[in-house]
Amino acid sequence: MMMLCTKMMSKIVSSLPSENIVNGNIKKVVKVTPPGPRKKLQLAVIEPGLGSGVSTPNYILDNYLKTLTQRVKYHLGFPENICYDHHVALAPLLQFHLNNCGDPFTENPVDFHSKDFEVAVLDWFAKLWEIEKDEYWGYVTHGGTEGNLHGIWIGRELLPNGILYTSKDSHYSVFKAAKLYRIDLEMINTSTNGEMDYSDLRAKLLHNKDKPAIININIGTTFKGAVDDIDVILQILEDCGYSHDKFYIHCDAALNGLIVPFIKNKPIGSVTISGHKFLGCPIPCGVQITRKSHIAYLSRNVEYIASMDATISGSRNGLTPILLWYSLSSKGQIGIQQDVKRCLNNARYLKDHLQQANISVMLNELSTIVVLERPHDHEFTQTLDDFFIDLVQKRKMWYQDGSVKSPCVADDIGAQNCACALHNGQYIFL
Ligand SMILES: Cc1ncc(COP(=O)(O)O)c(C=O)c1O
Repeated sequence: MMMLCTKMMSKIVSSLPSENIVNGNIKKVVKVTPPGPRKKLQLAVIEPGLGSGVSTPNYILDNYLKTLTQRVKYHLGFPENICYDHHVALAPLLQFHLNNCGDPFTENPVDFHSKDFEVAVLDWFAKLWEIEKDEYWGYVTHGGTEGNLHGIWIGRELLPNGILYTSKDSHYSVFKAAKLYRIDLEMINTSTNGEMDYSDLRAKLLHNKDKPAIININIGTTFKGAVDDIDVILQILEDCGYSHDKFYIHCDAALNGLIVPFIKNKPIGSVTISGHKFLGCPIPCGVQITRKSHIAYLSRNVEYIASMDATISGSRNGLTPILLWYSLSSKGQIGIQQDVKRCLNNARYLKDHLQQANISVMLNELSTIVVLERPHDHEFTQTLDDFFIDLVQKRKMWYQDGSVKSPCVADDIGAQNCACALHNGQYIFL
């Protein structure tokens, strides 16, 4: 890839001190030199009583904690919200082994689970996506990947000889699902903004008309935050003669499920989000919601756990539903709307400043992912404002004498967003 994908984390973006950058000019700021990247620890398990000094478990853990605490200020480029303080209230829960194996809606014969919290979280998402309480089924997964594996599994069960259609910009978990379930795959081209190429989808649907379609729709692609248009896809299915019993739609909303309202009254089979991304959660997790009517095909009574089961894994993390419940309850709808607004504004802010500095950049509508050219030097480990200032200054060094050309990224983000010499004339070196 010829580009670096910088995904906004609300903490880092919101701490961007706008007074440092005025009309595209950078004011002099006192830059704190970040500590070097975290070094890989050469660790072994220590037999009790054998460690001493720097090799005792407590010393090692203390040091590890110190490093993480330092590094968190410079965490840039992955789409996680690192703004949370769950540990303050929830750390005591670590005393207990909480296991939610099986169906969240089945009464558990043992005490050590958190299915009550899980169902509360699921109800919240069902309400957000406007699915009636008695019409949905779902569970808290271990992340967006498990949600995609589950959604595509339902599609496969309902339409056993279906073909999976997904855009080439889809997350690798979708391709993994095709491989695991040995489903025939049609990879659909994308436009430069990362959205599905609808004419390619139409052509491929027409070509395979004798087989049902399992369609993965991206609500925020991994690299560009592009959102496939559900209404256009539904229209194409209808135009190509696919009746409702001949297609299944899964939405991968891992990134943007809380940003883009999209579900209302549409024939969507399942939706998944990652809980640790936009919402923020110290343990990877996700939410999968589907229609209750679909789940009957998958659900089995498992005597060992005294529960029905239609999930993918066996034991399931009982802490994450509480973490999600706590996040949602502390932020509420209004807090989440404020986060959405702030992240969208911050993403626009960064994009505008990069653009003013004549750096190739692209930002999709309703996306918090700012896509920019990959820096020539890969040692960028800093806060966002340092990143911007350094990028501008280093580009001056890299490209000023003309021996190395600034990258052309027109193929990746479109000629209109590319600031290379060919597409945007001469660089202005700030
Ligand atoms: C669009 C998309 N879908 C799915 C996933 C997988 O999510 P997880 O990392 O929670 O398994 C990601 C992860 O970045 C993603 O970007």
